[in-house]
Amino acid sequence: MPASDSSSLKLLVTGGAGFIGSNVTLALQERYPDAQLTVIDDFRSGDFKNLRGYRGDFVAQNLAALDWHAQFGDEKFHAIFHLASITDTTNHDQFEQVHDNVESFRRLLKFAQPSESRIVYASSAATYGAANGVNSEADEAAPANVYAFSKAIMDNLARRAAAEQPSWKIVGLRYFNVYGPREAHKGMPASMILHLSRQMKEGKRPRVFKHGEQKRDFVYVKDIVQGTLRALETQESGIYNLGSGQARSFNELIAILNDSLGTDFEPEYFDNPHAHYQNHTEADLTNARRSLGYEPQFSLEAGVTDYMRWLYPA
Ligand SMILES: NC(=O)c1ccc[n+]([C@@H]2O[C@H](COP(=O)([O-])OP(=O)(O)OC[C@H]3O[C@@H](n4cnc5c(N)ncnc54)[C@H](O)[C@@H]3O)[C@@H](O)[C@H]2O)c1
Repeated sequence: MPASDSSSLKLLVTGGAGFIGSNVTLALQERYPDAQLTVIDDFRSGDFKNLRGYRGDFVAQNLAALDWHAQFGDEKFHAIFHLASITDTTNHDQFEQVHDNVESFRRLLKFAQPSESRIVYASSAATYGAANGVNSEADEAAPANVYAFSKAIMDNLARRAAAEQPSWKIVGLRYFNVYGPREAHKGMPASMILHLSRQMKEGKRPRVFKHGEQKRDFVYVKDIVQGTLRALETQESGIYNLGSGQARSFNELIAILNDSLGTDFEPEYFDNPHAHYQNHTEADLTNARRSLGYEPQFSLEAGVTDYMRWLYPA
């Protein structure tokens, strides 16, 4: 989509008061300054403060109950970025997780189907479950919690809708462990990078599960924004991993945080209480590279340095 004349462009972001949603919304506003932007969010975990500088419309509604036609009539959006979701993976209320996450998506798909508004929605690496090693999209879903189950059902709905209507483009993005600016409102579910950095800033040793060798594909939100916006251009429907493509251990992360914050803390290890724990996540980016042209720009070192400057300005 050319950025030069964006005045007729109508874009909608659900979950735009949240972490990734606000970063995507502000990036869209920057890339398409004349586009008509609308955010929908019910603030269950988001915060208006994430949208400082936002010039578009805001609809405060619960998507699991929203009557899209009553709200928007037959309006056609060029694209809908669906990022709203219950994001606390420790919320084990099975009805609430599945109802709110899946019904929100079903209602959105039903509204967008006649006009074929492009859908870009957030799936999750959590759908891979406790599988260790490199995760590729062909791997079967193995959700280990009900949050991941709700995302796997969304993937099923998306695949079915895209197969029934090939001209309609629906792109799912399996985000890995995202960190970066505008995540603090999430509290406990925010990234370990935020939590560890805060402990270290308070002069405490960073606490991680024994013995810090579990690996994660930590991905900087600026790369996630890049990949998410690239989904505007792709000609195929599909579900793609979005990560850094690298698995890094918590011990490595703490060393990088020490470098970045000018500290010298040893990790404090404690027992892992979780029976089903992902010991290794790593995105296979082959398909994202090929179909989206996605290429992560931030190593963990570069992303953490950029983020720490934003979090703790000198
Ligand atoms: N942050 C990560 O590491 C990560 C990893 C994998 C997938 N994801 C997915 O990316 C998306 C964005 O996550 P995030 O980290 O920005 O979380 P977030 O909690 O900051 O954002 C979610 C937003 O959705 C809103 N919301 C939730 N349910 C809603 C509903 N029914 N109606 C209206 N608004 C609703 C919340 O108020 C919040 O503003 C989510 O779909 C999440 O599952 C995130």
